[in-house]
Amino acid sequence: MPRKLFVTTALPYANAAFHIGHMMEYIQADTWVRAQRMKGSEVHFVCADDAHGAPIMIAADKAGLTPQQFVAGIAAGRAQYLDGFHIAFDNWHSTDGVENHRLAQSIYLALRDKDLIATRTIEQFYDPQKGMFLPDRFIKGDCPKCGASDQYGDNCEACGAVYAATDLKNPRSALSGATPVMRSSEHFFFKLSDPRCVEFLERWTQDGKLQSEVANKVREWFSRDYNGLSGLADWDISRDAPYFGIEIPGAPGKYFYVWLDAPVGYLASLENLFAKRAQDGSDGAAACAAYLADPQLEQVHFIGKDIVTFHTLFWPAMLYFSGRKVPDHIHVHGFLTVNNDKMSKSRGTGISPLRYLELGLDPEWLRYYIAAKLNARVEDIDFNPEDFIARVNSDLVGKYINIASRAAGFLAKRFDGQLSSDLGVEGRLLLDGLRAQRAAIEELYETREFGKAVRETMLLADRVNAYVDQHKPWELAKQAGADGEAGAAQRAALHDVCSVCIEAFRLLTIYLKPILPALAAQVEAFLQVPPLQFADAEQALGQHRIADYKHLMQRVDAAKLDALLTPPAPAVVLPGGEAMADEISIADFADRRRQHQAAAAHARCR
Ligand code: MSP
Ligand code: ZN
Repeated sequence: MPRKLFVTTALPYANAAFHIGHMMEYIQADTWVRAQRMKGSEVHFVCADDAHGAPIMIAADKAGLTPQQFVAGIAAGRAQYLDGFHIAFDNWHSTDGVENHRLAQSIYLALRDKDLIATRTIEQFYDPQKGMFLPDRFIKGDCPKCGASDQYGDNCEACGAVYAATDLKNPRSALSGATPVMRSSEHFFFKLSDPRCVEFLERWTQDGKLQSEVANKVREWFSRDYNGLSGLADWDISRDAPYFGIEIPGAPGKYFYVWLDAPVGYLASLENLFAKRAQDGSDGAAACAAYLADPQLEQVHFIGKDIVTFHTLFWPAMLYFSGRKVPDHIHVHGFLTVNNDKMSKSRGTGISPLRYLELGLDPEWLRYYIAAKLNARVEDIDFNPEDFIARVNSDLVGKYINIASRAAGFLAKRFDGQLSSDLGVEGRLLLDGLRAQRAAIEELYETREFGKAVRETMLLADRVNAYVDQHKPWELAKQAGADGEAGAAQRAALHDVCSVCIEAFRLLTIYLKPILPALAAQVEAFLQVPPLQFADAEQALGQHRIADYKHLMQRVDAAKLDALLTPPAPAVVLPGGEAMADEISIADFADRRRQHQAAAAHARCR
């Protein structure tokens, strides 16, 4: 029975172009999905833009666009990155799509029916000039602890103090400069503190499906003595108009907080895919619901370490208590840094994936490099230029590509591209050894130990190169010109050795194909074989004719890599044509920090 997999990556905020950290997540998930497909699993792999929320609304306003126009501009820029790095999503959608409006509302209504929604009146800062409630990061003032000026509404960058926005001295709106006033408003809460939720989440997060470091972190959030406080807090899921989001049914002027509808976007994108594929013109909803209800289906989310709370607490609880399938796996990865520097869009450091492509750097070098550094743990990985050049040039090209280039010329010139089916005892032993690693390498892909998969494969390439060095086809080729029996024997040996190399190259290509899909396609054309699957490792090519060898992959040109890493990084251009102001990017990062703290605060205080 082939496995049925529904796989997603996190939905990126539609407020900026992709950075290299996004590409790392996509490369990880795409590699895993490709390995699954090579095993015969049936996969639906989707993503979408996370379109809603106050920062995007404000950024659109600054750009003189409607939020819809603004996110459409961002969406239009996505394909060049995804295609450029061979990320094979089956669908790209938006959380502002109709499917998401419908699904988010119906999930909310189901939670309400279960008596898991509460309302409470809360007091918040309000910008009288802009006529809106202010998210903490749009409030600035003096730190209540050290007095540093110009601090955000949630913590002080000077002394590290964490506080509520209402504690700030001389608060002002970062949007208008006006002094905010306190206003009360009714908010909707998802009752995560309800014993049913607590019971469900303690079970769901601790049954072994999560990575151990993730499960441990989550356990802290439940723990009674975590900072002397206990348990899960109810989650504020509403925001007041004006807000770019989805209206809460039966509550005019109230919208879902962006993190309520964002993960629902996973389902919405899938439903949208089903609609696109529907032969009968249906909207995909029924087919998608039936697909998701299949107990055989595994739902898998790839995410970064900063959004674990949303995916291990809120999201599974939303799904479970609305009577839906809960995720089977949450695969959490660490962050990518560049030269050990946490990248920042505002400072323009880091690497622009688009510039990478424009400079003519091979996208598969990056896929290979990232894969070579990835493992199944929540560890940060660093992009280091020297390391990048070394791994690509000495391993990928030097060890693997070279095998084909060393053998192919002789086969074409002397044997008309025809492979020998004998291969000799040593050759057969070598190839059996390579085949014996198939299950282990498949398992390394399965468990996201891509670095080990690469290492194992390169060790096999070493064995092949040792065989070549031992049998010296270039010398056999010289002797093969001799007359008589001696010449004929050398000629047969040359034929065998080169054929062994090609078969070995085919096996190594299978093992690297999840990481190097475009290269593998070129190799398939060269070998004149249909798309390679893992199972193809078992059967040698035998009597077979290959095409002429064309150069498969260049070495890294260090000058181009230098150019990539040299500022100025290109400005992020808004749909309106205006370069994105720093403060928007900073807001985005502050947002992440705030989410962290909000989540931690949720877990800590009730
Ligand atoms: N919109 C939310 C996710 C909603 S999912 C229902 C969001 N967007 S994001 O654009 O900020 O991040 C998208 C993904 O990229 C997240 O999984 C995040 O962890 C990941 N990364 C962001 N920076 C990263 C690195 N520097 N390195 C690796 N992944 C990084 O969060
Ligand atoms: Zn301070």
